[in-house]
Amino acid sequence: MATHLAAFVTGKGQPLEVQEKQTPKPGPDELLLDVKAIALNPIDWKMRDLGFFITKYPVVVGSDISGVVLEAGSNVSSTFKPGTRVAAFAPTVFVQGAPDYGAFQQRPIIPAQNATPIPDYLSFNEAAILPMAVATTWSGWETIGVSRNTSYSPSDKQGLLVWGAASSVGSVVVQSAKLLGFTVYATASSKHHAYIKSLGASKVFDYKDPGVEDAIIKAAKEDGLTFQYGYDAAGAIPSCHTILKALKGSGPAHLASAPRLSPDGPTTDDVETKFVAASPDDKVRHEQFSFWFNTWLKERLEKREIVPSPKIQVLEGGLHGINKGLEILKAGVSGIKLVLEL
Ligand SMILES: NC(=O)c1ccc[n+]([C@@H]2O[C@H](COP(=O)([O-])OP(=O)(O)OC[C@H]3O[C@@H](n4cnc5c(N)ncnc54)[C@H](OP(=O)(O)O)[C@@H]3O)[C@@H](O)[C@H]2O)c1
Repeated sequence: MATHLAAFVTGKGQPLEVQEKQTPKPGPDELLLDVKAIALNPIDWKMRDLGFFITKYPVVVGSDISGVVLEAGSNVSSTFKPGTRVAAFAPTVFVQGAPDYGAFQQRPIIPAQNATPIPDYLSFNEAAILPMAVATTWSGWETIGVSRNTSYSPSDKQGLLVWGAASSVGSVVVQSAKLLGFTVYATASSKHHAYIKSLGASKVFDYKDPGVEDAIIKAAKEDGLTFQYGYDAAGAIPSCHTILKALKGSGPAHLASAPRLSPDGPTTDDVETKFVAASPDDKVRHEQFSFWFNTWLKERLEKREIVPSPKIQVLEGGLHGINKGLEILKAGVSGIKLVLEL
């Protein structure tokens, strides 16, 4: 029986321990990957330290990976034949950390709908930072009712507010909103403004400026924009509500909140707030991931319409470096995504 190395969490709040693990066989709709790079996300330390989503131990957590297909199940299309380079969303949060499916190991199982082939021009490190941000962006659009077919042009004057655009999620939300044709207003620290504009934001405002809400409202009115949608990637619901209330058209505006809300956020007659989540229904969620990864991301990467964002910081140690990386992430990062190479 083949084995590989995996970083296990053996109990709530315990550091990851690297151990040998049996290498599983992929099911008919699954892939077995040889992981080359892992990117870290806040949910990783929340699963390790707080036991989020976990019902029994040991578990293997982690969501963001890139690597090479080693084996593909019998139903999987030739897009993912062995040898294909892919980026993938490891479904640990949907399987309560079941060890075969977490990202923090050399050979995880990945449902084929959670993977996208990566073009030659992208490195494994670059590809690894996309899956969580893409899934969270699209979960947000589908949660608040932004249609997949949205295709505005600037003359439609449809604005979209992204709060926290220097974050991993926010930076992909900016790119996606721009591709859907929205005029994007974003917030970030001033040192990131040029970068966020390069991703497609029309205007970027410093969220540390005490007058930021008024400045956004004033600029949007001067630009003649309506804001029916907003995406909060940083936990600033009151500010987003103030802005959307002032700039919405007819009917309530819709705000997606990536930071945890229980179960949804404050909803008023003016702004409906929803926690960003993929569908809890397996069948619906599989279709969502298939569109996000097998279609949307694949095509956007082929056309070079989306770039991995934000900047990458590579950490040392491979699987052994993840605990330290999660401490760095927990302390807070600014405009970077942490990556480990395997
Ligand atoms: N619901 C879901 O499915 C889901 C999935 C993924 C993530 N999340 C959550 O979404 C949030 C973002 O995750 P992430 O991985 O993208 O985070 P991240 O990259 O670690 O976020 C760091 C960035 O947040 C920005 N930031 C912090 N406070 C801010 C504020 N008050 N206003 C504006 N920007 C602020 C900082 O911007 P500056 O550098 O400009 O200061 C920093 O660059 C987290 O709460 C995470 O837990 C939810």
